[in-house]
Amino acid sequence: MPAQTDLAECPFKIGNTPLARVELTLNGHRHELFLKEERLNEFGSIKDRVAWYILAKAIEDNGPVRSVVDASSGNYGYALACICERMGIGAVIVSSPTISRFNADGIKRAGATLVIADAAPGECGNSARIRVAREIAEREGHTFLNQYENFRNPASHELWTAPEVFAEGPFDACFTTSSSGGTARGFTDYLRKKKLPTELFLVEPAASCAFMEPGDAGKNAKLKVPGYGSQRRSAFADVTPDPAMLRVDEASVLAAFTLFEEHGIAYSGLSSAGVILGALRWLAQQDAPKRAVCICADGDERYLEEITERYVPSVGTEAYQVARAELTPIVEAMARD
Ligand SMILES: Cc1ncc(COP(=O)(O)O)c(C=O)c1O
Repeated sequence: MPAQTDLAECPFKIGNTPLARVELTLNGHRHELFLKEERLNEFGSIKDRVAWYILAKAIEDNGPVRSVVDASSGNYGYALACICERMGIGAVIVSSPTISRFNADGIKRAGATLVIADAAPGECGNSARIRVAREIAEREGHTFLNQYENFRNPASHELWTAPEVFAEGPFDACFTTSSSGGTARGFTDYLRKKKLPTELFLVEPAASCAFMEPGDAGKNAKLKVPGYGSQRRSAFADVTPDPAMLRVDEASVLAAFTLFEEHGIAYSGLSSAGVILGALRWLAQQDAPKRAVCICADGDERYLEEITERYVPSVGTEAYQVARAELTPIVEAMARD
């Protein structure tokens, strides 16, 4: 396993992201909720860590790399494209038609090639982009970093993100989500090895099967937010017992996102709004004050331009309005330092 010092030598402003503190009272108990603000990494998301770590280790193992290819829902591809631009390495990013405009434009601006992989019948978007990335690597000779199966993805969180979070601990509960499953697996491994009692929760949309098969509500549903859940089982999902799971529907996620913005609670992205919402639902069931932490993967700037035209219509305007009405009193009772 690589030494921690490798991480301290990262040449970019990645890591040491702040923890914002939010206070709230639910059912008469005053809770503290901390938000790990991964949007403040140099290229704007938690995937900055993974992109740099996997690339740096590939170079350490095999010597200089001329060009890379990898699959991504968007954030990792954006980070990898920016890092490769700064390091003079060619990059091909394979994503899906659901990629955000922000990430698609950013990848191209960084000089990388963006390939959109269409899924074959019966194939999910995630599997399609991995298949296409592998084909391109074989055909064109780029180094395939393979974040979806490369154990350096979870290792970057076990060795880097999680130690930063728990240096500020202890926490009763930690909330995160999964796309590749790297964060979830890295935190699971960290907590187990350190024997910490913190409960880890994955907060996922109904249709995600990254770690566990969806219940009936998610069987025929589609994922609506890039990077929030996966319709392919994660290569890192082999953990026993299964992680604790909270399901949060995307209409509520959209409602939470806009309410957090309006009330100055969080400036994080959509998956983070889901994660915070999962934490709020858990806190609402507690019978004592708790200290919890949410891993907030990215920032609002990646979604704001498409909220009205894309995301709200995709969950249904009425469902969104109902969720807003339900969540408004809860968000009004939150206060950020
Ligand atoms: C918006 C967003 N949230 C959460 C995640 C989850 O990260 P992981 O790939 O570690 O499961 C990602 C990953 O791409 C993401 O883009």
